[in-house]
Amino acid sequence: MKPVRVMSVFGTRPDAIKMCPLVLALEKDSRTESIVCLSAQHREMLDQVIRRFGVKPDYDLNIMKPRQTLYSITNDLLTGLEPVLAEAKPDIVLVHGDTSTCFVAALAAFYAKIPVGHVEAGLRTYDRYSPFPEEMNRCLVGRIATLHFAPTELNRENLAREGLTENVVITGNTVIDSMKYTVREDYRFENEVLASLDFSAGRYVLLTAHRRENLGEPLRNICRAARRLAAEYPDLHIIYPVHLNPAVREIVYAELGDVERIHLIEPTDVVDNHNLMAKCTFVMTDSGGIQEEATAVGVPTLVLRTETERPEGLSTGILRLVGVDENVIHDTAAKLLSDRDFYDAMAHAANPYGDGFASERIIDAIVAWKENN
Ligand code: UD1
Ligand code: UDP
Repeated sequence: MKPVRVMSVFGTRPDAIKMCPLVLALEKDSRTESIVCLSAQHREMLDQVIRRFGVKPDYDLNIMKPRQTLYSITNDLLTGLEPVLAEAKPDIVLVHGDTSTCFVAALAAFYAKIPVGHVEAGLRTYDRYSPFPEEMNRCLVGRIATLHFAPTELNRENLAREGLTENVVITGNTVIDSMKYTVREDYRFENEVLASLDFSAGRYVLLTAHRRENLGEPLRNICRAARRLAAEYPDLHIIYPVHLNPAVREIVYAELGDVERIHLIEPTDVVDNHNLMAKCTFVMTDSGGIQEEATAVGVPTLVLRTETERPEGLSTGILRLVGVDENVIHDTAAKLLSDRDFYDAMAHAANPYGDGFASERIIDAIVAWKENN
């Protein structure tokens, strides 16, 4: 059989982190031929990841604009992909997760009548505006896709509820594949600020927040809670790698720019980030991917959102939804810092998101599907 031509289209940091291990596995497997097309919806934050994994793109649409909108991303990517798909003629296009790149690439492939494989399929909050626009993106890609790679049984059930039962494979999440290689006991940070910190003295918390729903007052609340915690606990260091979105940076630097023991740093390299999580007392985040990673590492995590599409981590007790109210965030974090029993009840590793072999399962499913079609 001729190798299956698999084109992976991605372009934001989280999609790259979760697609790169799969791309490397596709490159190694003689049954597949890998083609990579970057949308570059993100630029610096994407390049940081593909450099680390050594992935070489075949196409780079370079669409990112400062303060881009959902309209400009959609427009630039859809028209940019038309000639790429016509030239590369892949047997299947792989998209990841719930970003605009994911949805638009699936739509572009559909217009070219090329089957789509959805990696990280079946996550749902059932609130079309939260996360926005990601929840709708996932639902729409679910309709378009031919192959659905669901990380967990719960994700499979979500798809079944929408009548999607064919070509659904439970694979685990590819992020766990990459964590097998990144977290190390003797790790030395690349980031200069992280390399200069003494993690054996004091307590360290990782904070990240960037979601569209949190821009404005919710993000200010998160910052105010962090500020109060730093003032109340003299041994506490809060490390916040600030997303490059200017709408995030304006608020975060204004609220936290001058606070002792709050370290505002540039977005960390993914390997730094995984190892940082492993060294932290706890994490506070509105990120999707960090919820999965924190669960695997076993570090208690306060989710700065009112919902999550990753309830498996809540069931393990490692994640806790705290929303975006300043007092609730502050009080729950303060309890983690002062109540040992409360902390211990959250701090234990679990792996609801996979065993680190998602990429292999995805490739086997693609090859089996191609043999029958
Ligand atoms: C996007 C995804 C979101 C994901 C997040 C991960 C959509 C609609 N949203 O949101 O699901 O959680 O990525 O981080 O797909 N910027 C840079 N350099 C970069 C990256 C971003 O300067 O490397 C700035 C640009 O000004 C850009 C802005 O950030 O216009 C926003 O980027 P965008 O991709 O539109 O939104 P995110 O909030 O990053
Ligand atoms: N991450 C990183 N550096 C950072 C912040 C996050 O490498 O400064 C990684 C993190 O470990 C996870 C992914 O980026 O793998 C999550 O991306 P993000 O929070 O931007 O997006 P989401 O998962 O919310 O869509």
